[in-house]
Amino acid sequence: MNKFALASWMCLLGFSSMLAVRLEPCDLAGQLYILDVPKVELSQWLCIADFESRFNTHVIGRANADGSLDYGLFQISDRYWCAPPEETLYHAFNGCNVNCTELLSDNITTAVRCAQLIKKQQGWTAWSVYAEFCNGTLTDTDKCFQPMEMTTEQITEVETTTADTEIN
Ligand SMILES: *[C@@H]1O[C@H](CO)[C@@H](O)[C@H](O)[C@H]1NC(C)=O
Ligand SMILES: *[C@@H]1O[C@H](CO)[C@@H](O)[C@H](O)[C@H]1NC(C)=O
Ligand SMILES: *[C@@H]1O[C@H](CO)[C@@H](O)[C@H](O)[C@H]1NC(C)=O
Repeated sequence: MNKFALASWMCLLGFSSMLAVRLEPCDLAGQLYILDVPKVELSQWLCIADFESRFNTHVIGRANADGSLDYGLFQISDRYWCAPPEETLYHAFNGCNVNCTELLSDNITTAVRCAQLIKKQQGWTAWSVYAEFCNGTLTDTDKCFQPMEMTTEQITEVETTTADTEIN
């Protein structure tokens, strides 16, 4: 592969992965619900994900004062909760028993389980954004679970799909 082709390929890869990592709030709500997060907690988790990562699963935050880093959707600390990829002086525990890089996955299962463990042990205050932004009236997630009102276009699409299925 010549240099130009390689560069454009890598650019394309970078771009497509950038597009893939940002979750829509209702998409996150649905995934959390499937992972058995109580419905009454969904608004709070969405608020935390919004202020911690802007719904971005791959984000590693700027280093904290002690050099530690925060990983993923819920910005989980590699000081106490996951094992950083390289040895560091500050790393103290691996509370969630995971590698930090697993917390950056588009499969959010590990990040959600770890966040739930943190909440169980420390409560919402484990997230500094909570008291400031998420402990009040929040956007209701009920709208995420209501059947969508279909546009005429979508209805036609469904009918076409159904027709196709019947033929096959
Ligand atoms: C973390 O990754 C290392 C290798 O990179 C692996 O040996 C280890 O089992 C992983 N730990 C966990 C908790 O998944
Ligand atoms: C996501 O990760 C979990 C835990 O590692 C695994 O059990 C599950 O099968 C994965 N889901 C998908 C869709 O890959
Ligand atoms: C949330 O707000 C309530 C009522 O203002 C307050 O009593 C509580 O301590 C707050 N919780 C956190 C974690 O900030």
